Amino acid sequence: MKITLSVIKADIGGWVGHSDSHPEVLSKAEEMMARAKQNEILIDYYVTKCGDDAQLIMTHTMGEENRVIHELAWDTFIACTDVAKKLRLHGAGQDLLTDAFSGNIKGMGPGVAEMEIEERAAETIIIYMADKTSSGAWNFPLYKMFADPFNTVGLVIAGNMHTGFAFEVHDVKEHKKVAFNCPEEIYDLLVFIGASSRFAVKAVYHRDSGDIAAVSSTQKLCMMAGRYVGKDDPVCVVRAQGHFPAVGEVLEPFAHPIYVEGWMRGSHYGPLIPVSVAESTPTRFDGPPRVIALGFQLANGKLIGPRDMFDDISFENARAEANMMADTMRNHGPFEPHRLPLDEMEYTTMPQVLNKLQNRFQALED
Ligand code: F6R
Ligand code: MG
Ligand code: MG
Repeated sequence: MKITLSVIKADIGGWVGHSDSHPEVLSKAEEMMARAKQNEILIDYYVTKCGDDAQLIMTHTMGEENRVIHELAWDTFIACTDVAKKLRLHGAGQDLLTDAFSGNIKGMGPGVAEMEIEERAAETIIIYMADKTSSGAWNFPLYKMFADPFNTVGLVIAGNMHTGFAFEVHDVKEHKKVAFNCPEEIYDLLVFIGASSRFAVKAVYHRDSGDIAAVSSTQKLCMMAGRYVGKDDPVCVVRAQGHFPAVGEVLEPFAHPIYVEGWMRGSHYGPLIPVSVAESTPTRFDGPPRVIALGFQLANGKLIGPRDMFDDISFENARAEANMMADTMRNHGPFEPHRLPLDEMEYTTMPQVLNKLQNRFQALED
């Protein structure tokens, strides 16, 4: 049976500041999703949050980029924005960049990750959702899951994975894409995805079968809006078990946090902390960036779950490590490498300050 899993998310208002989502906003989303399920548009759904981002997890049979599903998500976010406005939440409707729906929610602000799959007898799915970071944040963990044998021993000792995986990489600035076959092309792949502010892994495929293994949202909100409107706060869907990495191999890259772009004012590097849904509330210096992981089994499109995968003692060391990494960065205050390089910052006063000081600049004598 062909099932489409669509994860569509938007920041439609923060409670308090940019730290969390309000329960009334989420229950409005729940109400809209329940109606769509009743009307048999959706097979199933799950509404959740990661920090100030509302997340719609939907299953259906209408395929990717389907107008009905995208419009349902758009209408849900519009209805949620009305609630957010009534509660005077911060930045109500912040990610909805246009006034009217125009056929496809991509390019309108919300983040989208969708995959159409032939559901396996046991279809294990992990959905990652992040707050206070950008779409390139998935590059490192996806590389570890699908190309690094020190993370995923299945690449070495499981015959059904030994041929490897192919990575589809998007140049988010030039709107181009390129594919790499791994393991042969890992050095070429890393040339690009190591520059995660520009190149983002959009999808991963199992090479022997051609099956999709992972898909991420690669929207760059700031580029869509042409001005600062918040970080992407991306999502990523990963299939696990069988000819894909095991759940433990898929979660393992987050056991040692790495620095990602985002955090305060979308203009800093900070550690990506793996947390439970309840702890996905960025507070310290509006962060540090968070990632949650919800696990489901699919049963004819029904979402059996979720299990809150990072709500586990084995990720406590990762959280402690991340907090120490956060302290180290915070000690730098407004200096790099805590602050992002000039052309990556979402907030800057450089043009105004340069303008003000124009006449005070003098050429250096050699
Ligand atoms: C980062 C983020 C926050 C805000 C900051 C200022 O992605 O959402 O750090 O940038 O709180 O917010 P505004 O400009 O909305 O007052
Ligand atoms: Mg926000
Ligand atoms: Mg957010």
